[in-house]
Amino acid sequence: MAGVYIHIPFCKKACHYCNFHFSTLNKHDEILNTIIQEIEINQKKFKIKNISTIYFGGGTPSIVDENFLEIILRKIFQKYNVSKKCEITLEANPDDISEEKLKNWKKIGVNRLSLGVQSFNESILKKLNRVHSGDQAKKSIKLLKKYFENFSIDLMFGTPLSSVKTVNSDLKTLKSFDPPHISIYNMTIENKTVFQKQLENKKLILPKEDEILKQYDIILKKLERYGYENYEISNFSKKGFYSKHNSNYWNDEQYIGFGPSAHSYDKKYRYWNINKNKAYIDLINKKEIYYEKEKLTLKQKINEYILTRIRTNKGINNYELKKKYNVQFFKEKSSEILMLLNENLITKDKLSLNLTNKGKKISDYITEKIMY
Ligand SMILES: C[S@@+](CC[C@H](N)C(=O)[O-])C[C@H]1O[C@@H](n2cnc3c(N)ncnc32)[C@H](O)[C@@H]1O
Ligand code: SF4
Repeated sequence: MAGVYIHIPFCKKACHYCNFHFSTLNKHDEILNTIIQEIEINQKKFKIKNISTIYFGGGTPSIVDENFLEIILRKIFQKYNVSKKCEITLEANPDDISEEKLKNWKKIGVNRLSLGVQSFNESILKKLNRVHSGDQAKKSIKLLKKYFENFSIDLMFGTPLSSVKTVNSDLKTLKSFDPPHISIYNMTIENKTVFQKQLENKKLILPKEDEILKQYDIILKKLERYGYENYEISNFSKKGFYSKHNSNYWNDEQYIGFGPSAHSYDKKYRYWNINKNKAYIDLINKKEIYYEKEKLTLKQKINEYILTRIRTNKGINNYELKKKYNVQFFKEKSSEILMLLNENLITKDKLSLNLTNKGKKISDYITEKIMY
């Protein structure tokens, strides 16, 4: 089981909260051709037996000409052994959804869409500097359901102008579309974003911490009531619709990333492609190294396991940690675990440790306590 990630670094305009790597130029050909070249030269020499997931992320893969996506997919199929049931996801923005695009994505092999809605509330969408309107989001979900059974909707909470009322309203709208998978992220203020500048200049009003916790509480309760499994802190799924690609990340599987800023992991090393478009193109053209890599220490691997697994419903497995890394987690962290149990932040049985709903709201605090 291994995954391929392709980073498509273009967006129509910059959302005020986002610091993923993207450019708003609409000249796409050179970078896309370089991504195809990167797959061809295979400089990282990963020894991957079987690809079970392919993920076009961004940026905004839905703005790119489908012919390019097809060539990229063909190249991956040519270079790797791709399983017949491979999950092939494409991140899309509502303003790009059209009957023609949906048909073309399906034709080239995409079998899962992840639609970035963020909110259906017009004032919030404007504040976030999104391209689309709430109505456009609703229309695009309706349309994509005609072509894709497997899809996910991204929403955010804790945004400026959000409240328990707006979250309730977003959840109600969401329910009417019955998506098989939902990702809901707590909006964070990232470096080099418009929101960060506005916050520094005291020009941004954010909901208070207890208001944000209330929003998350409603999300957890309502989505459970609607029949979703909260299989990872920010991810909710109907039966059989987990994101296989993201589950691979959380299960310590290998993944290889192509495109500027893409990450890769071969179970020993972590790799980061350069995140400057021009340098990425130049280095690949000159056949020079275009990524950095770091060998993970045992401590980093243990902490990575704790950090990712505590967020999932599998939780931290004491036996697995002993088998994989020879640590006696329950014994070595017994006093911290006891404290967290007393605060009703975690549950623990013979084998595993999981977050309670109360714990999910402050997972960073908990991870800090139990990391090595
Ligand atoms: C890499 S973005 C790309 C998706 C797509 N371009 C879009 O805008 O919907 C994937 C998701 O990350 C989330 N995201 C981006 N910036 C975030 C932030 N600062 N805090 C929380 N979630 C964020 C959004 O929900 C977004 O849909
Ligand atoms: S959220 Fe999506 S559309 Fe907005 S800037 Fe980030 S990647 Fe681009």
